Amino acid sequence: MKSFSALATAVAGAALFLKTAVAAVDPIVIKGSKFFYETNGTQLYDYLGNGTTSDTSENTYTDPLAHSSSCQRDIPYLIQLRTNVIRVYALDPTKNHDDCMNMLADAGIYVIADLSAPGSSIVRDDPEWTDTLYTRYTSVIDAMHSYTNTLGFFAGNEVSNNNTNTDASAFVKAAVRDSKAYIKAQNYRTIGVGYATNDDADIRVNLADYFDCGDSAAAIDFWGYNIYSWCGNSSYTESGYDQRTDEFSSYNVPVFFAEYGCNTVQPRTFTEVQALYGSQMSPVWSGGIVYMYFQETNDFGLVSVDGNTVSTLTDFVYLSSQLALISPSSVNSASYTPTNTAAQSCPTVGSDWQAASALPPTPNAALCECMYNALTCVPNGVSTDEVGDLFGVVCGLGTNTCAGINANGTSGKYGAYGMCNSTQQLGWALNDYYEQQVAAGNGASACDFSGSAKTKAVTSPTGTCASLISQAGSGGTGTVTSSPSGTGSSGSGGSSSSTSKSAGAAGFSAPAHIGALQVACYVSVALVSGAAMILL
Ligand SMILES: *[C@@H]1O[C@H](CO)[C@@H](O)[C@H](O)[C@H]1NC(C)=O
Ligand SMILES: *[C@@H]1O[C@H](CO)[C@@H](O)[C@H](O)[C@H]1NC(C)=O
Ligand SMILES: *[C@@H]1O[C@H](CO)[C@@H](O)[C@H](O)[C@H]1NC(C)=O
Ligand SMILES: *[C@@H]1O[C@H](CO)[C@@H](O)[C@H](O)[C@H]1NC(C)=O
Ligand SMILES: *[C@@H]1O[C@H](CO)[C@@H](O)[C@H](O)[C@H]1NC(C)=O
Repeated sequence: MKSFSALATAVAGAALFLKTAVAAVDPIVIKGSKFFYETNGTQLYDYLGNGTTSDTSENTYTDPLAHSSSCQRDIPYLIQLRTNVIRVYALDPTKNHDDCMNMLADAGIYVIADLSAPGSSIVRDDPEWTDTLYTRYTSVIDAMHSYTNTLGFFAGNEVSNNNTNTDASAFVKAAVRDSKAYIKAQNYRTIGVGYATNDDADIRVNLADYFDCGDSAAAIDFWGYNIYSWCGNSSYTESGYDQRTDEFSSYNVPVFFAEYGCNTVQPRTFTEVQALYGSQMSPVWSGGIVYMYFQETNDFGLVSVDGNTVSTLTDFVYLSSQLALISPSSVNSASYTPTNTAAQSCPTVGSDWQAASALPPTPNAALCECMYNALTCVPNGVSTDEVGDLFGVVCGLGTNTCAGINANGTSGKYGAYGMCNSTQQLGWALNDYYEQQVAAGNGASACDFSGSAKTKAVTSPTGTCASLISQAGSGGTGTVTSSPSGTGSSGSGGSSSSTSKSAGAAGFSAPAHIGALQVACYVSVALVSGAAMILL
């Protein structure tokens, strides 16, 4: 992880008071497997990112770009390190980032922003891609897209980290797909969306293949590699950098170190810098981002900060002197014809890889709201603690009661409502069971569950709601092709939301009653584990 900061004081001071003067830098564009400055076509290598989250607890973090005084304090040090890119791990989309982004722009520094945050990310052992996360991701995009020094976004960081949790990558790849689609749908400047991977020997090749393969609209635009295999006086071969370079020599999008700087040998002399920007690696890699600017308890810092005082640490001096020596050979965009044009092949699901090529559906808050409004049987004051238990019960009853909320990255089977919040999902399951019982003539007591369920008035879906629900299908196992409406920051939802497309609406007549949502003759039973639901 990194953090950042930055800029020359005189200019920075002026920028603080001239909020309308947005500093413009040349946007970075991707061509083939390299980054370029858009206007003059010079190739860009990442030199350093001061990443940082400062996640002090589960749901709190410090937004490093929200305080102009800290940016003003730190940017001169980033400049000393010849920083041109920083990575920021968690931004608060409700904060204003103009001052910091302008100061960074004035210093020629670009930003790669992670879209997740502590407490708002895809969880490797309980992966989901939900309406809530979609809103978080798109809010960060909304907050950052207008700065020309926003270089890209990471849709996840080290989510799958060993062969027990590779299924989570299906959810992260859906996040990549939907973030890209959102940027396009909003007509924002083209900004790449990538993923920052960890370096686990069992899964690293499959991971890189998986995120690159298949439909390019869902594939990563660049690949960030968090790597700590060069410690102390290592070498190109001893560190395995040689093998990693081979592995990416045919990759068709840019790849760079999204974190590096092993600290098991101290001080860090950063001898790997010469390898990374040297003749063997620079044709393949677009540089790297050192982890990290701030000294924190994990002891990866380049500087320690106490109030307004910045003290450079020994590692800062070493890194600075190493970076001063590099001069990577670069190619100009105009004379560069990408040779790696083919995407990697998708890995097959087996013992070492459990993420199907089929991805979870795009979150759609309006769909969930419409569905919930159309239910007869819903949760009745079920506490968060009890939600998981109740799922365990109701999903085991009836026939395929939970198929509509299933989300299994390994089988690639996803219900249309697996993105909804826990109340909505539970409502779907309770109602599905209830409708089955009604159909069998046992409706009278089927919506009770010891007082955990109750019947409510139904809002029959019309218009957009009817279309969305129709696409989702009677058992919730259909495919919704309408794009989510609304922007991330305004959210969406409510039966009155409109969508531009309604591919599934042709020939659909609005059901008069929720019963039309039900059908129910399924071949297999899909269970959603109670535990998986508790964290919704
Ligand atoms: C191209 O533009 C970038 C950013 O403005 C600058 O750093 C670089 O030196 C320029 N390249 C040339 C060859 O002038
Ligand atoms: C896989 O990673 C998870 C999460 O970090 C960890 O709890 C688990 O022990 C790891 N399993 C193996 C086999 O390494
Ligand atoms: C690393 O190499 C340098 C230069 O050869 C040497 O001065 C230093 O003692 C070495 N460090 C270690 C830990 O071996
Ligand atoms: C979950 O969905 C229910 C029903 O649509 C809604 O009333 C509630 O506000 C939602 N909760 C959250 C946290 O979004
Ligand atoms: C997901 O699907 C796989 C393969 O079909 C299956 O083995 C696994 O048990 C399913 N997981 C859950 C939580 O249902």
